[in-house]
Amino acid sequence: MAKPPKSYVCNNCGTAYRRWQGKCEECNEWNTISLEDAVVSGAPKGLSGKKGQTVALVSLDEPIPDAPRLMTGISELDRALGGGLVPGSAILIGGDPGIGKSTLLLQAMGALALKGEDCVYFSGEEATAQVQMRANRLGLRGAPLKLGCETSLRDILTTLDSSKPPKAVVIDSIQTLYADHVESAPGTVSQVRVCAHELISYAKRRGTIVLLVGHVTKDGQIAGPRVLEHMVDTVLYFEGDRGHQFRILRAVKNRFGGTDEIGVFEMTGIGLEEVPNPSALFLAGHNAREPGSAVFAGIEGTRPVLVEIQALVARSSAANPRRAVVGWDSGRLAMVLAVLDARAGLGLAGCDVYLNVAGGLKISEPAADIAVAAALVSSLSQIPLPDETVVFGELSLSGDIRSVAQTEARLKEAAKLGFVKAMTPPSQKKTDKDIGIEQQTLARVSDLVAHFFP
Ligand code: TYD
Ligand code: MG
Repeated sequence: MAKPPKSYVCNNCGTAYRRWQGKCEECNEWNTISLEDAVVSGAPKGLSGKKGQTVALVSLDEPIPDAPRLMTGISELDRALGGGLVPGSAILIGGDPGIGKSTLLLQAMGALALKGEDCVYFSGEEATAQVQMRANRLGLRGAPLKLGCETSLRDILTTLDSSKPPKAVVIDSIQTLYADHVESAPGTVSQVRVCAHELISYAKRRGTIVLLVGHVTKDGQIAGPRVLEHMVDTVLYFEGDRGHQFRILRAVKNRFGGTDEIGVFEMTGIGLEEVPNPSALFLAGHNAREPGSAVFAGIEGTRPVLVEIQALVARSSAANPRRAVVGWDSGRLAMVLAVLDARAGLGLAGCDVYLNVAGGLKISEPAADIAVAAALVSSLSQIPLPDETVVFGELSLSGDIRSVAQTEARLKEAAKLGFVKAMTPPSQKKTDKDIGIEQQTLARVSDLVAHFFP
């Protein structure tokens, strides 16, 4: 008899392969592919003649059952969710171990419980006493939140089905759960998928909000949250640098709201605190008189955020000069360097370049190009940017500076934080006067460079 074919699967994104390989072509991670232990052998049998049940169909014009969004009261979380939790939705919260996922969800569930909502928190990682101790420290003593310490999917579902469905359930974390009908270890792709599928169908069936915690793992030992991204309604990633106290909650998928919305928190001794004005926090300690520092007026989701971009450029004798980037795309940096060299003749190709976005924020907007270029040229020339100036604009390969969206919001935020000047692209509408920001328009990258090398 022929042996069933072996199947390999990427523990990061769940892509299946016929044979082992070192790098996953789907998510570009290395060493995440391993033998899938639960192999389905043989071709599917088909549905045969057995009858199913009729599905109750609903007409589009029928009134929608009244189910308002549930606000946790933690406004940065509600904002990242697109305006609160939607009943019956499944939400995945991913992030590095120790970043604060359990803390955030415990605070959110505690806040809901204090408002009289029925919430359950299942921890597969900590004993209930440990969760209680943490909750006390977070100031949630007396919150009527129900805790469970369980890793068996069957027991969790039986517990949930034995009483009225709660408003919200947290599973911390999905990688510790196991379904006893699947023959593989907890944390493998098949276990994580089966457990999530069952919990999501519970959410849809009973109208409960299910929040799944998923650890991001670099070494591919356990399945990462990307395996689940397509199954849930909303995906939030909790980012941040463990060396910094700031944490950013970013929506990367949301069936009920915008993506790229961020919530900003600060990790303190008594848990996560909301940061309602992130710009002030990201600019704390910013010294405008230092060469190599530029303030970028960016937009994160629907909110303007000012961040400091720091660059260090130093002549290098190495054949391959070093390029190190934190918080920005290294490909994008290579492009800005190439344009500065080709269009303004700066000769950065022979320099070591270090770029850092202060505060641990990751910027993905092309509007940051000019702010990065300004920081680089300022560092090279050792001349600081003009005082109290913000910068934004997209750089094209020809060296032209292109306009970007939401100028007014960017300028208003800058004015609010005491900035008085802005370097902006040329075609930008002059919306200033009443905003109180003097705009200096730059048409080409050479105009920017001329500022530092007159
Ligand atoms: P945790 O929520 O356990 O992380 P995760 O669930 O994502 O693995 O957060 C753990 C970290 O947060 C730990 O390093 C300590 C820190 N922390 C505080 O600084 N203050 C607090 O009040 C709490 C609860 C945690
Ligand atoms: Mg945890």
